[in-house]
Amino acid sequence: MKIDILTLFPEMFAPLKTSILGRAENSGKIEFNIINIRDFSKDKHKKCDDEPFGGGAGMLMTVQPLYDALKAIVKKNSKIIFPSPIGQTLSSKKAEELSKFEHLIFVCGHYEGVDERIFQLFDIEQISIGDYVLTGGELPTMVIIDTLARFVEGVISKDSLISESFSDGLLEYPQYTRPQEFMGLKVPDVLVSGNHQQIEKWRKEQSIKRTKENRSDLLE
Ligand code: ADE
Repeated sequence: MKIDILTLFPEMFAPLKTSILGRAENSGKIEFNIINIRDFSKDKHKKCDDEPFGGGAGMLMTVQPLYDALKAIVKKNSKIIFPSPIGQTLSSKKAEELSKFEHLIFVCGHYEGVDERIFQLFDIEQISIGDYVLTGGELPTMVIIDTLARFVEGVISKDSLISESFSDGLLEYPQYTRPQEFMGLKVPDVLVSGNHQQIEKWRKEQSIKRTKENRSDLLE
């Protein structure tokens, strides 16, 4: 999979080089390409923002640099995403759906927003990461990439995907590792019993209990 990211702040994407995403790129599973929108500005000062017609607070991203940047990279099979609080909220299901595309393009908005005409010129899906407003699209882009990357073949183990929260509509059960006792707190006996049927049963019960306590809306 190839992921192009259009942004005015390329330096914000340094975290893509580390940990699991860094490994995914080094092993050729995902290719990241960060593109500076400013490089496409035809303005003599490389300006990419302007005041909104009709007045109002702040500046908007102008349509020309974005149009030219997208035109240069978009292909028939590309999926373009614009993180925005007005989109549908991201879910694990949506992330899995996105992981199936050969080519994703993320357009990061900044300032007060972007000239609406870009959405008439290209087929762009807006995706929100929650009911709050961030200062730009860079962090939500990283959130969306991080979660979809988990579904790209070979990025994490299949077992990890199966037992995680939301994979079966429930939250993940509690987990423990060595030492078996710490500050007087013991690991539940069933987990060291060696009885795999009992372990599975306990984990399922714990998942249901947690989901009821923390996210009863998931059980409706
Ligand atoms: N940009 C600003 N706020 C956002 C949000 N909540 N989700 C996605 N993109 C955003």
